[in-house]
Amino acid sequence: MSRKIALITGGGDCPGINAFLASAVRRGNREYGASFVGVRNAFAGLAADDPEKYLLPLDTESVVGLENRSSTILESSRFNPFTEDNIAKGYPEKMLKNLKHLGIDGVLGTGGNDTILSALRLEERGFPTVMAPKSIDNDVSGTDVMLGFRTAISFGAQAARSTADSARAHRRISLVEVMGRHAGWLALEIGVASGADLITIPEKPVELAGFCAEVGRIYEECRCANIVIAEGTSISYDDPVIVKARKKSDVVRALMEETPEIDAFGNPKLGGISQILRRVLRIELGLKKIEEVRTTDLGFTLRGLAPAADDIILGIRFGIKTADILLGEKRSGVMVGINGLEIEEASFEEALKPKTVHRSDRELQALGVFISSSSQNTRP
Ligand code: F6P
Repeated sequence: MSRKIALITGGGDCPGINAFLASAVRRGNREYGASFVGVRNAFAGLAADDPEKYLLPLDTESVVGLENRSSTILESSRFNPFTEDNIAKGYPEKMLKNLKHLGIDGVLGTGGNDTILSALRLEERGFPTVMAPKSIDNDVSGTDVMLGFRTAISFGAQAARSTADSARAHRRISLVEVMGRHAGWLALEIGVASGADLITIPEKPVELAGFCAEVGRIYEECRCANIVIAEGTSISYDDPVIVKARKKSDVVRALMEETPEIDAFGNPKLGGISQILRRVLRIELGLKKIEEVRTTDLGFTLRGLAPAADDIILGIRFGIKTADILLGEKRSGVMVGINGLEIEEASFEEALKPKTVHRSDRELQALGVFISSSSQNTRP
């Protein structure tokens, strides 16, 4: 009997997701005679009171040309049906009931850490689920790269180079902030590829006296400085430079005192560190005007990009492999990934091990990463 598969795309959108969807549908339709339905808003759609309203039937014909499209046609959400609260409210059971009611036999999805964790919980409740990793943060284990990362790097590097050229013309310090949460992959690779003078990553907490001295030295030497800042860069509330800046700048005081909001999976909502560093640098370097330090937040511009060829190919390969596992081999509970040139797979548990930048300080420094002599760690 033909099997019916639900497709979901959870967490932050990114390039390459639609290529995955198109490929999984094509492979599943042609090779295994399966039918597909996209479920909008991921787990929020699956757990809705009226799940029919979230459905988007997909077949080989309707996915023609989808590979090049940006973001995800299925929309996304960070709804977590497995929080203590939501378990108490019966969301997992509701989701299983909906899946049964809709005649769904298995779930294929894309996601980062959080969505893969929910997929694991669904699988533990006996529902066959297979995932493909996506996130511009590149912070899931069991794969060299995730969907979206390569496109984000190439566009991000181009954008950072453009700000660098402008900073040179105006003899300025340019701070380019990028996402990445607690992993520095995005900042590191955009920084290196754009020829940044300095890069900060979450894995290396920043002691500000040393950081400002280094920026000052570069500014003195080149009459401009190009710095890529990871949104998760860690600075201490008690750093003497911050203590001083809190007194001199309302913005620094407000931003340092702001309690970050927390998402459904317990992640703090990051962003804005470059606004603090902008003011700190002005004070520490004794700059006359605030516009001598300019900030650019690349943030969401890297999420909604049309996929580069690398991500289209990866999405297509992930789509084929996930369909083969779920429909051909009738297995589940795994995430597909790429190791070197080969498509492989990892258990959900393996995928959920943290993947941050682990390289020697010597190598990181050679690549331009700022390494403090001491490290304190309280923000974010
Ligand atoms: O997708 C991951 C990510 O891009 C993080 O780098 C960032 O902190 C987060 O998403 C922000 O996402 P949103 O505001 O959509 O929840």
